[in-house]
Order: sequence, then structure tokens, then C-alpha cells
Amino acid sequence: MCITIDRENLLFSLNTSHTTYQFFADSRGFLRHLYYGQRIGNFDMRYREFHSDCGFSPNPGEMHTQRDFSLDTRAQEYTGCGIGDYRIGCLSLTNGDGSYSADFRYAGYAELEGKYAIPGLPAAYDNSGSCRTLRIDLRDPVTKLELALYYGVFPEQDVITRCAVLRNAGGSAVRLYKAASACLDLPFGKWDILHFQGRHCMERMPERIPVPHAALTVGSDRGTSSHQHNPFVILAAPETCEEFGVCYGAMLVYSGSFKIEAECSQLQSTRLVLGISDQRFCWTLEPGASFHTPEVLLSCSVDGFGGLSRRYQDFLAAHICRGTFRDTPRPILINNWEATYFDFNSEKLCAIAQQAKELGVEMLVLDDGWFGKRNSDTSGLGDWHVNEQKLGTTLTELIQRIRAIGLDFGIWVEPEMVSQDSDLYHAHPDWALSVPGRTPAQGRSQLVLDLSRKEVVEYLYGVLAGLLRSHDIRYVKWDMNRSLSDVFSRSLPPERQGEAAHRYMLGVYDLLERLTAEFPQVLFEGCSGGGGRFDAGMLYYFPQIWCSDDTDAVERLKIQYGTSFGYPIRTVGSHVSACPNHQTGRTTSLHTRGIVAMSGSFGYELDPQKLSEEEKEEIRRQICQFRRHRDLIFFGDYYRLTNAMTDDYFTAWQFAAKDGSAALLNVVVVAPKANPYPIHVQLKGLQPEALYRETESGSVYSGAALMHGGYTLPIMTGDYPGFQCRFERI
Ligand code: GLA
Repeated sequence: MCITIDRENLLFSLNTSHTTYQFFADSRGFLRHLYYGQRIGNFDMRYREFHSDCGFSPNPGEMHTQRDFSLDTRAQEYTGCGIGDYRIGCLSLTNGDGSYSADFRYAGYAELEGKYAIPGLPAAYDNSGSCRTLRIDLRDPVTKLELALYYGVFPEQDVITRCAVLRNAGGSAVRLYKAASACLDLPFGKWDILHFQGRHCMERMPERIPVPHAALTVGSDRGTSSHQHNPFVILAAPETCEEFGVCYGAMLVYSGSFKIEAECSQLQSTRLVLGISDQRFCWTLEPGASFHTPEVLLSCSVDGFGGLSRRYQDFLAAHICRGTFRDTPRPILINNWEATYFDFNSEKLCAIAQQAKELGVEMLVLDDGWFGKRNSDTSGLGDWHVNEQKLGTTLTELIQRIRAIGLDFGIWVEPEMVSQDSDLYHAHPDWALSVPGRTPAQGRSQLVLDLSRKEVVEYLYGVLAGLLRSHDIRYVKWDMNRSLSDVFSRSLPPERQGEAAHRYMLGVYDLLERLTAEFPQVLFEGCSGGGGRFDAGMLYYFPQIWCSDDTDAVERLKIQYGTSFGYPIRTVGSHVSACPNHQTGRTTSLHTRGIVAMSGSFGYELDPQKLSEEEKEEIRRQICQFRRHRDLIFFGDYYRLTNAMTDDYFTAWQFAAKDGSAALLNVVVVAPKANPYPIHVQLKGLQPEALYRETESGSVYSGAALMHGGYTLPIMTGDYPGFQCRFERI
């Protein structure tokens, strides 16, 4: 049983294969966290409780003169507010009487079959039948505000999911200014926080810093999870490294503005709080109404960052991603964006398709510029009807021609946006987010549609479903190319404007749910100027996301390295593009570009007609190689062999089949050296006793030799040389 309840002591133990999470309801009804870490079974961890009379940390009122307990010094499962805990908290609110306090006391529990769902929000699901849910009910006896804490326990996956639901059972409206999803208190120990910062074209750069004695915040107020911060953090012991040591992951299943805070307290405990951003957030909870917070996925690893990443990768691939393409290899595609930008017609596209087909590509994706008046990024968004004049044909005819060439057809859309220079904007100017009397800020010369409005979602659903119903489209790249600003919805009353940003996300999710359910044969890829919305919320609808607009192979080493900490490799959209690279101007070999792009959902983003005969031949070989490795890359275990941020000589990473039958080693030299010292790596995930043949040379090694003795690479010189080799168990 993964959930054990000691009813007498109201002690709750959640056990997974390798971890235990434990808390209890104390005699006053406070729900107090006891332990999260390596599995200790159901052992009562209350022995670690300490008593202290800490100056300036108040004691709950009912304790009168007894002073050995304060909410300010104890680990909790979720905080109230305004009642004497001064650390970062989960809630901020006002009650009907104007007071700011919430004081939740234990009211009961329920054990539920399977995995709970969250209405309107993406959340982990379970098909295996092993997940169980625990719900803890708490209540504020004065205001009658209720708090339900949900715990989903995935025993084999070592994942515990959490979310909180607030319900107003009182008689007057409550205003929520902050409603976090979860709080994780680690009562002892020193912790570093690893977070993933970045910018457009350089997303998810890991940064590791000690959790300070101050509130450290990472988050986004952009209406998207953003390029700048990712809704995923890791708490790690100072000694934790790639392969060893304790670390905890906490990932929000949410794609909008978020806030993750960490703080080391005066008594040296560490608290992590995760949830929707509280900036400009104000949600009115009328009597009887509930507010559901997004889900958090927690995992704990004692085998370093590598172990934690493999847990998240496996979990997201099987319990977040959904649909027909979840477990299938994705088509090798060619996207015309960097080949043509806005300058194309059907002849050009067919010529690209024809050449790509000869190289072995399986799908053509028609990117931005096929609709409305769209010859640059200043107009046309919102008018999702094909520009036949530009294409020189109908969309149906174009698709037929592409299909006749032997490729599937995919298409780009950016439905959440509108250009002011568009028919849609002229018909419905009030559908764009904007504050009355102000000129809204532009981002990429476009405005954001107000998807908090039902009629806008309905309209987009109609247009997109119509497009997909009437055309043989097998893939949709769903883009989103600006941050939200001027968030004001014409459909909400003044006192509810603080709900608009979250309601926008609920609208996006509603639209995606309907479209992905209705068109299961369509492979959806997410995108937001590359990886500006690369998060578990989006992966619930899109089994892959364009990882970055930076297609430079050397920069991608870092971007894909950072992304791999939390996200499955097969969800990473990754293409070989032309050189000199359009973002950096750098030239790398086709070989290196191929090795890097293969670690993801592989494709091309160039004009194949501009390739030399040798390059075409190399791409033919590359595609054959990828087909050979595709299962290993998609379904194998992933290992980071070097730190792409700090190892400045070479970057190495590896895949190993889950049954140990094969491995794929990848290396790129990022700074070639004169008189070089050898590049040596130790492989992972092999069977020690088994023998492996390196498929090119035919040399045979034992698994133990490759893992413990390692493998020395041939000397590589030149600009960013790449190396890839495969080992197969004999
Ligand atoms: C975004 C995407 C690109 C491309 C352009 C088209 O930047 O990330 O891949 O689709 O939009 O405008």
C-alpha cells in the first residue's frame, strides 16, 4: 500500500519505491510536515520534532502561556495567513469582514482510487492502476473557508503530485491575492536551489545557488511560463552532483504566470512554495465557489540530478503527455521557416518537398505566412484563411501535391494572437487584451486575444476545427509569440480583472483540450518563440515543443542540456538548420548539427535545394542513422556525461536502452585544442557482465569495462567536431 494512515496519531505516510513523504495532524489540528526523502517506510518521524520558545515567533492563541510551539518555526503542509508564520506563505486573502487571516485545522481525510483530476487544468493521469489519491480536508472554523489538499502517489515512478482546492463555505465573498499549489518544508539541512533561467534563443540555463536567508523568487509575470524562467526547480544538498546525492524536484503543471519561492528560515529550515503568480492576481471566491490551483509534481532522488531527471522524463512521457503520438516515433520533418521565411509560394514549397523527399524526410511543415495578409510579421494574424493569391493555389491542392510527392503535410498557426492589421481585429477590436483608454503595448507588432472570453475561444475553435476538418493536415505547430501585457478583459467586471490572466490560461487549455480530443490523428507541437512555453502544462496537450529559436548546434548543446533536467528527450523539437547559422552566424559541420538535432524530435529547417551533392548524400545517411537510433533516443534512458555549462572542452551525453541492449554515445568538441589531451568518457546504464560491440569498428567491450574503465575517443580537430557511436549487446 502506498498510502498508510495511522488513524490514532493521524499520521499519513506516502511511500513510493524509493521515497517516503510523511505528515500528521497535531492535537491542535495543524497539518505538519514530517519528512520527505529516501524511503523510511511508515516509521513515525515525529521523533525529530523539537520544542523551542523562539523569540518573536508567536504561539497560537489557544496555547495561552505555553510557548513551545509556533507556526513560524514548524514544517507545514500548507500555510494559512496572518496567524504568526512570517516565512514565505501559500496564501494571501481578505475575508468578508476585511480581515486578512486564514487558519486551517484538520477536518478529515479521504482515500480515493486512482489519480484525481483538476477541472479545467492539465494534471498527471494514471493508466497503470497503481496510483492512489489522498485528500486531506481542512477548515477555518471562523470564516468557514475550506482547504482540500490532494496528494497523488505514483509508487513505481517515485512521484508525488499535489494540488490545493479552496472552497468558500462561508456566507461572504473571499478575495484571494495568492493561492499557491503547494509548499514543501525541509525542516533540516542545507540546500542549494537549481533553477532554469534564460532568454529568447537561450532557454533553460541551469543556475545553482544556495537558498538564502531571504525569499528567493523565480517566476514569470508574462502570461506564459516564459523563456526567462521555467516552472521547475531542484533543491539539492551542497554535495549533490550528477550521479550522487539527494535532490528534490518540484515542477508546476502550468503554462501561465507562476511564482516559485524558496527561503531558508531563522531556524535553518528551508521552505519552497509554488503556484500561480500573485502579481496582479485577485480571485473572488463567492460563497459556495471553489478555486483549483495547478498541480505540482514532486520527486526525490538519492542518485543525483541524473536519477531525478530520468524520473521526470519517464513520468512526463507516460503520465503527462497523451494521445496517439505519445509512444510513437515522430515523423522526420522539414520546416520551411528558415528556408524561406515569408517569401514562398506553392512552387517553392513543392520544390523543397520534392528535394526533401529524395533525402528521406517524411513531412513538410508550412510555417508562418500562408494565411491572410501575412508577408511580414506586422499583419494578418487572426485571419486563418489561406492566402491563395500568395500560394498560387488552394490549400487543398497544395496538400494534395505534397502528398503526391510522398510527404505528410503540417501547418503553423498562432491562434492566440491578432495583428491590428487584420480582418479579425477590425471586426472585433475588443477581443484583444487592452486597458480602456490606453494604447496597448505591442510585442512583435501584435496583440493578444482575450482567451478568458468564451466567445473568443469558441471562435478560434470553430476556425481551427474547420481548418483541420477540411484538410488533410497531420501536424500543427501551435505558436505564441509575445508576452502578455495590458491584461484587461472587457468581459470581466472591475473587481474581477485580477482573474483575467489565469482565465486566459483556462481558455487556452479549454481550446487545446477540445482540439486535441477531436483530432487525435494530428500531431501537435507547441512553440512560443521557440521554448518560451516549454512546461508540463503544455506537454499535456502537445507531445513535443519547439525547444528554441536558436538552431545553432553549439548553443543548442546548452539549451538541450538544461531542458533535459526536467523534460523527456522525445518532447524536444530539434532541427538541423543551414550554415552559417541564422542566429549566431557560426558554421558547424552537418555531422555535428545532425548529432545534436537527433537528441529530440528530429527534423530539418533549411532549403535542401541549396545543398551540395555531398551534403545531400550526408543527409541521406544522417536520416538512415536517425531511423536506426530513433527508438533508443525516444524510449531509452538519457545520461548527461558532462556539464555543458562548465565543461568547456567537450559536451557528451548518452542514451541506453532500458533493457541494457544498446547505447548511443554523443560527443561534440566545443573548444578544440592544440596538442589535445584525450577525450575520455564513462558510459552509463549498461549491463556489467554483458559484452557490447561498437557497431562501426566491430570492437567488443564488456559493459563493466565501458562503465568503469570508460571509452577513449579518437583525436578530433577542426571546428566543433562531433562524434557518435553505438554499442550493441552481443
Ligand atoms: C516563432 C517560431 C519560429 C517560427 C516563427 C514564425 O518565432 O518559434 O519557429 O515559426 O515564429 O513567425
